[in-house]
Amino acid sequence: MSHAQKALLIESKQGPFVLGTRPIPTPGAGEVVVKVHAAGLNPVDWKIQAYGIFVEDFPAVVGSDVAGEIEAVGQGVEGFQKGDRVFLQGPFTDNKNGAFQQYMVNPAELTAKIPANLSYSEAATIPVAFNCAAFGLFAPAPLVGTQNFPDIWSGEGALVIYHIAIYAWPAVVIGGSSSVGQYVIQLLKLAGFSPIIAYASTRHAAHLTSLGATHVLDRTNTLLTPAALHAAVQAITSAPISIVFDAVCSADAQQSGYAVLGPGGTIVIAGRSLIEAAPERTVVPVLGSEHPPTHRAFGRVVVANITGMVADGRIVPNRVEEVPGGLAGIKEGLAKLQRGEVSGVKLVGHPLEA
Ligand SMILES: NC(=O)c1ccc[n+]([C@@H]2O[C@H](COP(=O)([O-])OP(=O)(O)OC[C@H]3O[C@@H](n4cnc5c(N)ncnc54)[C@H](OP(=O)(O)O)[C@@H]3O)[C@@H](O)[C@H]2O)c1
Repeated sequence: MSHAQKALLIESKQGPFVLGTRPIPTPGAGEVVVKVHAAGLNPVDWKIQAYGIFVEDFPAVVGSDVAGEIEAVGQGVEGFQKGDRVFLQGPFTDNKNGAFQQYMVNPAELTAKIPANLSYSEAATIPVAFNCAAFGLFAPAPLVGTQNFPDIWSGEGALVIYHIAIYAWPAVVIGGSSSVGQYVIQLLKLAGFSPIIAYASTRHAAHLTSLGATHVLDRTNTLLTPAALHAAVQAITSAPISIVFDAVCSADAQQSGYAVLGPGGTIVIAGRSLIEAAPERTVVPVLGSEHPPTHRAFGRVVVANITGMVADGRIVPNRVEEVPGGLAGIKEGLAKLQRGEVSGVKLVGHPLEA
C-alpha cells in the first residue's frame, strides 16, 4: 500500500479548500487508524475555513463525523480489530484526526462499533450532532449546566431509561429539523419530556413527529420573535417550559427561546450565547465534543451507549443526502451547507471515492 493518501486541505488561515495528499497516519498507543468510508459534513467545517476559527496549524484537515473500518490498532488497544465497522467524532485539533481524508486517527476509547442495521453513511450522520444534543441535555454539572433532568445514561454503559418515570415536562426545540434538532427531539422523548414542540418547516413535520415531536410550529407562519414564539407555545401548553434547545444559534432564536422559558428553566444553545441570563433562568452554551479532558468521562458514557441505542432504534440517524465525487464533492457540499441550502438532511461524503 502506498504511504500517501488523498485529503481535503485548508492550506492557510481562511485559505480555500484544496485537494492534496498527506501521509497515512500510524496509530499511537491507545489509538486506532480508521479508513474513512463516510464523512458527515457539519456547519463548523465551513466556519473554520471561512472565519479562521478554532484551528491554528496549517495545512489543516477538518471534518469530525467519521464512519469507516479499522485499518490498524495501536499498542494496548483491546476490543477492535482490522475490518471492524466503527463510527466516531474526531477532534479538529490535529491533521491526523480530520474526517476529510482517507485515513484518520482516533482514541480507541472514543470509538464505537456500527451495528448491522446502519450503513456507513447513516452512521456518519450521528457523532457530532448527537453529541451536541447529548452534552447539552445530559452532561453533568459543572460541565455544561446545572440541569436536574432524568438521567438516561449509566456510567457503565447500560441505559437506565426503562427505569425512569415519565416526567411530562414541556420542551421547545428551535431548529427542530436540523441535524442537531432531530437528535434533541429523540433524546427529549427518551427522557419523557412532553409536549415536545419543534419550531421548523412543516414540510418536515411528519418526520419530526416520527422522532418524537408532539407539535411542529411552522416557521414560515410563526415569527422568531419573543412575542410570537411565546404566544404560539402558550397556545399549545400553559405549563412552564423547562427546557428550550436552540439549534439555530441566531440572536433571534436565543431571545425568543429565552422568552418562552418558565421560571427555573434552561435554554441550551448549540453555540455561543448572545443573551444575558437573569438569575431565575439558566443559559447553557454547549461544546458537544468528547475530546477535551473535561468532556472525556461523559464522552465515554455516550460511546458506551450509542451502539445499542441505534441498534434497537431508540435513536435513528438523520436522513442522508449522499455527496458524490469524493473529496472534491465534499468541498462542493460544504459550499452548499454554507449557502444554507441544506434542509432536514445530513450531507455525507466519501473520501475514498475518486
Ligand atoms: N456546539 C456544538 O457542539 C455543535 C455541534 C453541532 C452543530 N452545532 C451548531 O448547531 C447549529 C445546527 O447545526 P446542524 O448541523 O444541526 O445544522 P443543519 O442541519 O445544517 O441546519 C439546517 C437546518 O436548520 C434549519 N433552520 C435554519 N434556520 C432556522 C430557523 N430560523 N428556524 C428554524 N429552523 C431553522 C433548517 O430548517 P428548514 O430548512 O427545514 O426550515 C434546516 O433544516 C449550527 O449553528 C452548528 O454550528 C453546534
